[in-house]
Amino acid sequence: MTYPKHEIAIIGCGYLGAVLATVFAEQGNNVIGLDVDQGKVEKLNQGIAPFFEPEFDELIAAGISAGNLKFTTDPSAISTSDLVFICVGTPQLEGSSAADMRQIWSAIELIAPHLHSDALVVGRSTVPVGTAKEIETRLQKLTSTNSTIAWNPEFLREGFAVRDTRTPDRIVIGVQNSDDEQKLKSVYAPQLSKDIPLLVVDLATAELVKVSANAYLATKISFINAMSEIADKTGADVVALADAIGLDPRIGRKFLGAGVGFGGGCLPKDIRAFIHRAGELGLSSSLQFLKEVDEINLRQRDRVFSIAKDLLNGSVKGKRITVLGAAFKPDSDDVRDSPALDIAVRLNSEGANVVVHDPKALENAAKRFPVLTYEGDLEKALLNAELVLHLTEWMQYREIDPVSAKKLVRTPQMIDGRNMLNLEAYQAAGWKIVGLGRQPK
Ligand code: UGA
Repeated sequence: MTYPKHEIAIIGCGYLGAVLATVFAEQGNNVIGLDVDQGKVEKLNQGIAPFFEPEFDELIAAGISAGNLKFTTDPSAISTSDLVFICVGTPQLEGSSAADMRQIWSAIELIAPHLHSDALVVGRSTVPVGTAKEIETRLQKLTSTNSTIAWNPEFLREGFAVRDTRTPDRIVIGVQNSDDEQKLKSVYAPQLSKDIPLLVVDLATAELVKVSANAYLATKISFINAMSEIADKTGADVVALADAIGLDPRIGRKFLGAGVGFGGGCLPKDIRAFIHRAGELGLSSSLQFLKEVDEINLRQRDRVFSIAKDLLNGSVKGKRITVLGAAFKPDSDDVRDSPALDIAVRLNSEGANVVVHDPKALENAAKRFPVLTYEGDLEKALLNAELVLHLTEWMQYREIDPVSAKKLVRTPQMIDGRNMLNLEAYQAAGWKIVGLGRQPK
Protein backbone atom coordinates (compact mmCIF):
# COMPACT_ATOMS: atom_id res chain seq x y z
CA MET A 1 0.00 0.00 0.00
CA THR A 2 1.36 3.47 -0.83
CA TYR A 3 0.64 6.50 1.25
CA PRO A 4 1.04 10.24 0.60
CA LYS A 5 4.64 11.41 1.15
CA HIS A 6 5.44 14.45 3.21
CA GLU A 7 8.35 16.76 3.88
CA ILE A 8 8.75 16.47 7.63
CA ALA A 9 11.06 18.14 10.14
CA ILE A 10 11.59 16.79 13.63
CA ILE A 11 12.96 19.28 16.17
CA GLY A 12 14.79 17.52 19.02
CA CYS A 13 16.20 14.04 18.43
CA GLY A 14 15.99 12.28 21.80
CA TYR A 15 14.03 9.06 22.46
CA LEU A 16 10.87 10.63 21.15
CA GLY A 17 12.12 12.69 18.19
CA ALA A 18 14.71 10.29 16.79
CA VAL A 19 12.29 7.36 16.86
CA LEU A 20 9.48 9.42 15.32
CA ALA A 21 11.85 10.62 12.57
CA THR A 22 12.90 7.08 11.69
CA VAL A 23 9.36 5.72 11.69
CA PHE A 24 8.17 8.59 9.47
CA ALA A 25 11.09 7.85 7.11
CA GLU A 26 10.24 4.14 7.14
CA GLN A 27 6.78 5.15 5.94
CA GLY A 28 8.34 6.85 2.90
CA ASN A 29 8.41 10.50 3.98
CA ASN A 30 11.42 12.79 3.52
CA VAL A 31 12.53 13.51 7.04
CA ILE A 32 15.02 15.94 8.46
CA GLY A 33 15.89 15.75 12.17
CA LEU A 34 17.23 18.93 13.76
CA ASP A 35 19.16 18.86 17.02
CA VAL A 36 21.61 21.20 18.72
CA ASP A 37 23.89 18.32 19.78
CA GLN A 38 26.52 17.91 17.03
CA GLY A 39 27.77 14.58 18.42
CA LYS A 40 24.29 13.08 18.42
CA VAL A 41 23.61 14.32 14.89
CA GLU A 42 26.85 12.76 13.62
CA LYS A 43 25.99 9.40 15.18
CA LEU A 44 22.46 9.45 13.82
CA ASN A 45 23.72 10.31 10.33
CA GLN A 46 26.00 7.28 10.48
CA GLY A 47 22.97 5.15 11.32
CA ILE A 48 24.14 4.68 14.91
CA ALA A 49 21.61 4.89 17.74
CA PRO A 50 22.75 7.34 20.45
CA PHE A 51 20.72 5.42 23.08
CA PHE A 52 19.58 1.85 23.62
CA GLU A 53 16.08 1.11 22.44
CA PRO A 54 14.97 -2.29 21.11
CA GLU A 55 14.59 -2.41 17.28
CA PHE A 56 15.93 1.13 16.89
CA ASP A 57 19.47 0.19 15.73
CA GLU A 58 18.22 -1.59 12.62
CA LEU A 59 15.58 1.02 11.89
CA ILE A 60 17.94 4.00 11.99
CA ALA A 61 20.54 2.22 9.87
CA ALA A 62 17.86 1.37 7.28
CA GLY A 63 16.54 4.95 7.23
CA ILE A 64 19.98 6.46 6.67
CA SER A 65 20.91 4.03 3.91
CA ALA A 66 17.55 4.56 2.17
CA GLY A 67 18.50 8.24 1.87
CA ASN A 68 15.21 9.86 2.99
CA LEU A 69 16.32 10.43 6.59
CA LYS A 70 18.92 13.03 7.55
CA PHE A 71 19.95 14.78 10.71
CA THR A 72 21.46 18.22 11.03
CA THR A 73 22.23 21.11 13.37
CA ASP A 74 21.42 23.63 10.63
CA PRO A 75 17.92 25.09 11.13
CA SER A 76 17.68 26.31 7.52
CA ALA A 77 17.28 22.63 6.52
CA ILE A 78 13.64 22.78 7.67
CA SER A 79 12.69 25.43 5.10
CA THR A 80 11.02 22.89 2.77
CA SER A 81 9.17 21.01 5.52
CA ASP A 82 5.36 21.05 5.46
CA LEU A 83 5.11 19.61 8.95
CA VAL A 84 7.44 20.53 11.79
CA PHE A 85 7.16 18.36 14.88
CA ILE A 86 8.46 19.82 18.15
CA CYS A 87 9.94 16.93 20.17
CA VAL A 88 12.35 18.67 22.58
CA GLY A 89 12.56 17.78 26.26
CA THR A 90 10.68 19.52 29.05
CA PRO A 91 12.55 18.32 32.15
CA GLN A 92 11.88 19.47 35.69
CA LEU A 93 13.16 22.98 36.35
CA GLU A 94 15.95 22.98 38.90
CA GLY A 95 14.74 24.12 42.31
CA SER A 96 11.08 24.03 41.23
CA SER A 97 8.37 21.52 40.43
CA ALA A 98 7.57 23.32 37.16
CA ALA A 99 8.57 22.15 33.70
CA ASP A 100 11.69 23.74 32.28
CA MET A 101 10.41 25.18 29.01
CA ARG A 102 13.69 26.62 27.75
CA GLN A 103 14.18 23.98 25.07
CA ILE A 104 10.71 24.69 23.68
CA TRP A 105 11.28 28.44 23.47
CA SER A 106 14.73 28.18 21.99
CA ALA A 107 13.43 25.64 19.42
CA ILE A 108 10.71 28.09 18.39
CA GLU A 109 13.22 30.91 18.01
CA LEU A 110 15.56 28.65 16.07
CA ILE A 111 12.98 27.46 13.54
CA ALA A 112 10.87 30.63 13.16
CA PRO A 113 13.07 32.35 10.53
CA HIS A 114 13.13 29.19 8.39
CA LEU A 115 9.49 28.05 8.46
CA HIS A 116 7.96 27.66 5.04
CA SER A 117 4.92 29.85 4.52
CA ASP A 118 2.28 27.15 5.03
CA ALA A 119 4.11 24.91 7.45
CA LEU A 120 2.12 23.26 10.20
CA VAL A 121 3.96 23.29 13.54
CA VAL A 122 2.97 20.23 15.56
CA GLY A 123 3.75 20.09 19.27
CA ARG A 124 4.61 16.65 20.60
CA SER A 125 6.58 17.41 23.76
CA THR A 126 4.81 17.06 27.12
CA VAL A 127 3.89 20.58 28.19
CA PRO A 128 1.76 22.54 30.65
CA VAL A 129 -1.71 23.17 29.27
CA GLY A 130 -1.78 26.52 27.46
CA THR A 131 1.65 26.13 25.85
CA ALA A 132 0.34 25.58 22.31
CA LYS A 133 -1.42 28.94 22.33
CA GLU A 134 1.69 30.60 23.73
CA ILE A 135 3.79 29.05 20.95
CA GLU A 136 1.33 30.35 18.39
CA THR A 137 1.53 33.88 19.84
CA ARG A 138 5.32 33.80 19.81
CA LEU A 139 5.43 32.44 16.25
CA GLN A 140 3.12 35.18 15.06
CA LYS A 141 5.55 37.75 16.48
CA LEU A 142 8.60 36.04 15.02
CA THR A 143 7.39 35.21 11.51
CA SER A 144 5.25 36.57 8.73
CA THR A 145 4.24 33.10 7.53
CA ASN A 146 0.78 31.55 7.71
CA SER A 147 2.05 28.71 9.87
CA THR A 148 -0.45 27.31 12.33
CA ILE A 149 -0.07 25.11 15.37
CA ALA A 150 -1.51 21.72 16.21
CA TRP A 151 -0.87 19.43 19.19
CA ASN A 152 -0.23 15.73 18.85
CA PRO A 153 0.83 14.16 22.17
CA GLU A 154 2.90 10.98 22.18
CA PHE A 155 2.35 8.04 24.48
CA LEU A 156 5.40 5.90 23.72
CA ARG A 157 7.04 3.93 26.47
CA GLU A 158 10.80 3.63 26.58
CA GLY A 159 11.74 0.06 25.81
CA PHE A 160 8.82 -0.07 23.33
CA ALA A 161 9.47 3.24 21.58
CA VAL A 162 9.60 1.83 18.04
CA ARG A 163 6.58 -0.39 18.47
CA ASP A 164 4.53 2.36 20.17
CA THR A 165 5.42 4.86 17.41
CA ARG A 166 4.59 2.49 14.58
CA THR A 167 1.37 1.26 16.15
CA PRO A 168 0.25 3.50 19.01
CA ASP A 169 -2.87 2.68 21.10
CA ARG A 170 -4.44 5.87 19.83
CA ILE A 171 -3.61 9.05 17.95
CA VAL A 172 -4.75 12.30 19.48
CA ILE A 173 -4.63 15.48 17.45
CA GLY A 174 -5.52 18.91 18.73
CA VAL A 175 -6.26 21.16 15.75
CA GLN A 176 -7.75 24.55 15.02
CA ASN A 177 -9.03 24.01 11.49
CA SER A 178 -9.91 21.23 9.07
CA ASP A 179 -6.85 21.77 6.82
CA ASP A 180 -4.53 20.96 9.70
CA GLU A 181 -6.68 17.97 10.60
CA GLN A 182 -6.40 16.67 7.03
CA LYS A 183 -2.61 17.15 6.97
CA LEU A 184 -2.20 15.15 10.17
CA LYS A 185 -4.60 12.45 9.02
CA SER A 186 -2.55 12.16 5.86
CA VAL A 187 0.73 11.80 7.79
CA TYR A 188 -0.81 9.12 9.99
CA ALA A 189 -2.52 7.33 7.08
CA PRO A 190 -0.43 4.14 7.62
CA GLN A 191 -1.57 3.98 11.27
CA LEU A 192 -5.17 4.91 10.49
CA SER A 193 -5.31 2.14 7.90
CA LYS A 194 -4.67 -0.31 10.76
CA ASP A 195 -7.76 0.98 12.57
CA ILE A 196 -5.80 2.74 15.26
CA PRO A 197 -8.31 5.09 16.90
CA LEU A 198 -7.97 8.79 16.08
CA LEU A 199 -9.33 11.44 18.38
CA VAL A 200 -9.64 14.97 17.02
CA VAL A 201 -9.81 17.52 19.83
CA ASP A 202 -8.92 21.14 20.63
CA LEU A 203 -5.41 22.24 21.61
CA ALA A 204 -5.96 22.37 25.37
CA THR A 205 -7.54 18.91 25.46
CA ALA A 206 -4.65 17.46 23.44
CA GLU A 207 -2.12 18.94 25.86
CA LEU A 208 -4.10 17.70 28.86
CA VAL A 209 -4.61 14.18 27.50
CA LYS A 210 -0.89 13.55 27.82
CA VAL A 211 -0.33 14.85 31.34
CA SER A 212 -3.54 13.36 32.66
CA ALA A 213 -2.63 9.93 31.19
CA ASN A 214 0.73 10.05 32.95
CA ALA A 215 -0.88 11.32 36.15
CA TYR A 216 -3.33 8.41 36.06
CA LEU A 217 -0.57 5.85 35.49
CA ALA A 218 1.47 7.31 38.35
CA THR A 219 -1.60 7.23 40.59
CA LYS A 220 -2.21 3.58 39.77
CA ILE A 221 1.36 2.66 40.72
CA SER A 222 1.24 4.63 43.95
CA PHE A 223 -2.13 3.12 44.79
CA ILE A 224 -0.73 -0.40 44.62
CA ASN A 225 2.38 0.67 46.53
CA ALA A 226 0.17 2.05 49.31
CA MET A 227 -1.62 -1.33 49.33
CA SER A 228 1.76 -2.99 49.56
CA GLU A 229 2.56 -1.00 52.72
CA ILE A 230 -0.76 -2.18 54.21
CA ALA A 231 -0.02 -5.75 53.07
CA ASP A 232 3.31 -5.76 54.89
CA LYS A 233 1.68 -4.72 58.16
CA THR A 234 -1.19 -7.18 57.86
CA GLY A 235 0.52 -10.24 56.39
CA ALA A 236 -1.36 -9.93 53.09
CA ASP A 237 0.22 -10.45 49.69
CA VAL A 238 0.10 -7.45 47.34
CA VAL A 239 0.80 -9.51 44.20
CA ALA A 240 -2.20 -11.75 44.85
CA LEU A 241 -4.22 -8.65 45.71
CA ALA A 242 -3.24 -6.98 42.42
CA ASP A 243 -4.15 -10.16 40.52
CA ALA A 244 -7.55 -10.23 42.18
CA ILE A 245 -8.49 -6.56 41.74
CA GLY A 246 -6.87 -6.48 38.29
CA LEU A 247 -9.34 -9.07 37.01
CA ASP A 248 -12.05 -6.48 37.35
CA PRO A 249 -12.05 -5.04 33.81
CA ARG A 250 -12.84 -1.60 35.25
CA ILE A 251 -9.49 -1.74 37.10
CA GLY A 252 -7.19 -3.88 34.91
CA ARG A 253 -3.95 -5.60 35.98
CA LYS A 254 -1.48 -3.35 34.14
CA PHE A 255 0.46 -0.80 36.19
CA LEU A 256 -0.38 -2.58 39.42
CA GLY A 257 3.21 -3.73 39.85
CA ALA A 258 4.12 -2.87 43.45
CA GLY A 259 7.77 -2.25 44.19
CA VAL A 260 10.28 0.59 44.32
CA GLY A 261 7.95 2.76 42.27
CA PHE A 262 8.15 4.89 39.18
CA GLY A 263 11.11 6.83 37.91
CA GLY A 264 12.38 7.97 34.52
CA GLY A 265 12.23 11.20 32.58
CA CYS A 266 8.42 11.30 32.40
CA LEU A 267 6.07 10.27 35.21
CA PRO A 268 7.86 11.98 38.15
CA LYS A 269 8.46 15.31 36.45
CA ASP A 270 5.11 15.28 34.65
CA ILE A 271 3.05 14.92 37.83
CA ARG A 272 5.09 17.68 39.49
CA ALA A 273 4.70 20.03 36.52
CA PHE A 274 0.97 19.25 36.46
CA ILE A 275 0.64 20.13 40.17
CA HIS A 276 2.55 23.34 39.48
CA ARG A 277 0.33 24.26 36.53
CA ALA A 278 -2.82 23.58 38.56
CA GLY A 279 -1.45 26.03 41.16
CA GLU A 280 -0.98 28.67 38.47
CA LEU A 281 -4.57 28.10 37.41
CA GLY A 282 -5.75 28.58 41.01
CA LEU A 283 -6.69 24.89 41.19
CA SER A 284 -4.12 23.49 43.61
CA SER A 285 -6.75 21.49 45.47
CA SER A 286 -7.81 19.66 42.28
CA LEU A 287 -4.40 17.99 42.04
CA GLN A 288 -3.57 17.87 45.75
CA PHE A 289 -3.79 14.07 45.54
CA LEU A 290 -0.86 13.97 43.10
CA LYS A 291 1.42 15.28 45.87
CA GLU A 292 0.46 12.20 47.83
CA VAL A 293 1.13 10.03 44.75
CA ASP A 294 4.63 11.54 44.56
CA GLU A 295 5.25 11.03 48.28
CA ILE A 296 4.06 7.41 48.27
CA ASN A 297 6.35 6.80 45.32
CA LEU A 298 9.44 8.25 46.98
CA ARG A 299 8.61 6.44 50.23
CA GLN A 300 9.16 3.07 48.52
CA ARG A 301 12.84 3.94 48.13
CA ASP A 302 13.07 4.68 51.89
CA ARG A 303 11.31 1.41 52.54
CA VAL A 304 13.95 -0.60 50.67
CA PHE A 305 16.68 1.31 52.46
CA SER A 306 15.26 0.51 55.87
CA ILE A 307 14.67 -3.19 55.02
CA ALA A 308 18.31 -3.34 53.88
CA LYS A 309 19.44 -1.86 57.18
CA ASP A 310 17.35 -4.33 59.16
CA LEU A 311 18.72 -7.29 57.19
CA LEU A 312 22.25 -6.06 57.85
CA ASN A 313 21.67 -5.82 61.60
CA GLY A 314 21.07 -2.08 61.82
CA SER A 315 23.88 -0.66 59.70
CA VAL A 316 24.92 -0.82 56.07
CA LYS A 317 28.36 0.61 56.81
CA GLY A 318 31.16 -1.43 55.25
CA LYS A 319 28.68 -4.03 53.92
CA ARG A 320 29.06 -5.38 50.40
CA ILE A 321 25.71 -4.76 48.67
CA THR A 322 24.95 -5.71 45.06
CA VAL A 323 22.34 -3.64 43.28
CA LEU A 324 20.77 -5.37 40.28
CA GLY A 325 19.65 -2.69 37.86
CA ALA A 326 20.59 0.91 37.15
CA ALA A 327 18.09 1.88 34.43
CA PHE A 328 14.74 3.25 35.61
CA LYS A 329 13.05 0.32 33.85
CA PRO A 330 14.18 -2.74 31.88
CA ASP A 331 14.99 -2.61 28.15
CA SER A 332 16.26 0.94 28.48
CA ASP A 333 19.62 2.58 29.24
CA ASP A 334 17.87 5.64 30.65
CA VAL A 335 18.90 6.38 34.24
CA ARG A 336 16.93 9.57 34.75
CA ASP A 337 15.35 9.51 38.22
CA SER A 338 16.10 5.81 38.51
CA PRO A 339 14.83 4.40 41.82
CA ALA A 340 17.62 1.78 41.69
CA LEU A 341 20.39 4.36 41.47
CA ASP A 342 18.77 6.58 44.04
CA ILE A 343 18.81 3.70 46.51
CA ALA A 344 22.37 2.71 45.52
CA VAL A 345 23.64 6.25 46.07
CA ARG A 346 21.94 6.44 49.44
CA LEU A 347 23.46 3.14 50.58
CA ASN A 348 26.84 4.33 49.34
CA SER A 349 26.58 7.60 51.22
CA GLU A 350 25.85 5.61 54.41
CA GLY A 351 29.15 3.79 53.95
CA ALA A 352 28.03 0.61 52.16
CA ASN A 353 30.33 -0.94 49.60
CA VAL A 354 27.84 -0.92 46.70
CA VAL A 355 28.35 -2.64 43.35
CA VAL A 356 25.81 -1.87 40.62
CA HIS A 357 25.08 -4.19 37.70
CA ASP A 358 22.93 -3.44 34.65
CA PRO A 359 22.91 -5.02 31.17
CA LYS A 360 22.73 -1.69 29.29
CA ALA A 361 22.77 1.37 31.51
CA LEU A 362 26.19 1.26 33.21
CA GLU A 363 27.76 3.91 30.99
CA ASN A 364 24.96 6.40 31.64
CA ALA A 365 24.90 5.50 35.33
CA ALA A 366 28.65 6.04 35.68
CA LYS A 367 28.37 9.46 34.04
CA ARG A 368 25.59 10.43 36.43
CA PHE A 369 27.02 8.89 39.63
CA PRO A 370 30.78 8.32 39.23
CA VAL A 371 31.00 7.67 42.97
CA LEU A 372 29.45 4.19 42.66
CA THR A 373 31.24 0.99 41.63
CA TYR A 374 29.92 -0.65 38.47
CA GLU A 375 30.31 -4.22 37.23
CA GLY A 376 29.12 -5.47 33.85
CA ASP A 377 29.58 -9.15 34.66
CA LEU A 378 26.68 -10.49 36.71
CA GLU A 379 28.62 -13.26 38.45
CA LYS A 380 31.38 -10.87 39.47
CA ALA A 381 28.78 -8.37 40.68
CA LEU A 382 27.24 -11.00 42.95
CA LEU A 383 30.57 -12.19 44.35
CA ASN A 384 30.80 -11.88 48.16
CA ALA A 385 27.60 -9.85 48.45
CA GLU A 386 26.14 -9.63 51.92
CA LEU A 387 22.86 -8.41 50.46
CA VAL A 388 21.47 -8.30 46.91
CA LEU A 389 18.85 -5.77 45.85
CA HIS A 390 16.77 -6.52 42.75
CA LEU A 391 15.65 -3.02 41.70
CA THR A 392 15.14 -3.06 37.90
CA GLU A 393 13.35 -6.10 36.52
CA TRP A 394 15.57 -7.05 33.55
CA MET A 395 14.67 -10.51 32.27
CA GLN A 396 18.27 -11.58 32.96
CA TYR A 397 17.65 -11.22 36.70
CA ARG A 398 14.56 -13.37 36.61
CA GLU A 399 16.67 -16.07 34.98
CA ILE A 400 19.23 -16.14 37.82
CA ASP A 401 19.46 -19.63 39.32
CA PRO A 402 19.16 -19.12 43.10
CA VAL A 403 21.21 -22.28 43.76
CA SER A 404 24.23 -21.16 41.71
CA ALA A 405 23.90 -17.54 42.85
CA LYS A 406 24.02 -18.67 46.46
CA LYS A 407 27.52 -20.06 45.86
CA LEU A 408 28.72 -16.61 44.75
CA VAL A 409 27.42 -14.44 47.57
CA ARG A 410 28.72 -14.27 51.14
CA THR A 411 25.27 -14.04 52.74
CA PRO A 412 22.25 -15.21 50.71
CA GLN A 413 19.91 -12.30 51.35
CA MET A 414 17.80 -10.62 48.67
CA ILE A 415 15.34 -7.74 48.58
CA ASP A 416 13.09 -8.10 45.55
CA GLY A 417 12.21 -4.46 44.98
CA ARG A 418 10.15 -5.32 41.90
CA ASN A 419 8.23 -8.34 43.24
CA MET A 420 9.22 -10.35 40.20
CA LEU A 421 11.41 -13.12 41.58
CA ASN A 422 10.23 -16.55 42.60
CA LEU A 423 10.23 -16.29 46.41
CA GLU A 424 9.72 -20.01 46.92
CA ALA A 425 12.63 -20.96 44.65
CA TYR A 426 14.95 -18.59 46.49
CA GLN A 427 13.78 -19.84 49.87
CA ALA A 428 14.20 -23.45 48.80
CA ALA A 429 17.77 -22.63 47.77
CA GLY A 430 18.45 -21.24 51.25
CA TRP A 431 18.05 -17.51 50.63
CA LYS A 432 16.37 -15.04 52.92
CA ILE A 433 14.24 -13.09 50.46
CA VAL A 434 11.99 -10.11 51.14
CA GLY A 435 9.54 -8.57 48.67
CA LEU A 436 7.57 -5.36 49.11
CA GLY A 437 4.13 -6.31 50.39
CA ARG A 438 4.80 -9.93 49.56
CA GLN A 439 4.96 -12.59 52.22
CA PRO A 440 7.26 -15.59 51.92
CA LYS A 441 5.39 -18.76 52.92
C1 UGA B 1 5.61 6.78 30.42
C2 UGA B 1 4.19 6.43 29.92
O1 UGA B 1 3.91 5.06 30.21
C3 UGA B 1 4.12 6.63 28.40
O2 UGA B 1 2.80 6.38 27.94
C4 UGA B 1 4.50 8.07 28.09
O3 UGA B 1 4.48 8.34 26.70
C5 UGA B 1 5.91 8.35 28.61
O4 UGA B 1 5.93 8.11 30.04
C6 UGA B 1 6.24 9.78 28.33
O5 UGA B 1 5.64 10.67 28.95
O6 UGA B 1 7.03 10.06 27.42
P1 UGA B 1 7.97 5.49 30.43
O7 UGA B 1 8.45 6.61 31.29
O8 UGA B 1 8.79 5.05 29.27
O9 UGA B 1 6.52 5.87 29.82
O10 UGA B 1 7.80 4.23 31.34
P2 UGA B 1 6.61 3.42 32.02
O11 UGA B 1 6.52 2.10 31.38
O12 UGA B 1 5.39 4.22 32.13
O13 UGA B 1 7.22 3.22 33.47
C7 UGA B 1 7.45 4.33 34.32
C8 UGA B 1 7.95 3.87 35.66
O14 UGA B 1 6.91 3.21 36.39
C9 UGA B 1 9.13 2.88 35.60
O15 UGA B 1 10.09 3.27 36.58
C10 UGA B 1 8.48 1.56 35.96
O16 UGA B 1 9.39 0.68 36.55
C11 UGA B 1 7.41 1.99 36.92
N1 UGA B 1 6.29 1.05 37.03
C12 UGA B 1 5.54 0.73 35.94
C13 UGA B 1 5.98 0.48 38.27
O17 UGA B 1 6.66 0.78 39.29
N2 UGA B 1 4.95 -0.39 38.37
C14 UGA B 1 4.18 -0.71 37.30
O18 UGA B 1 3.24 -1.51 37.45
C15 UGA B 1 4.49 -0.14 36.06
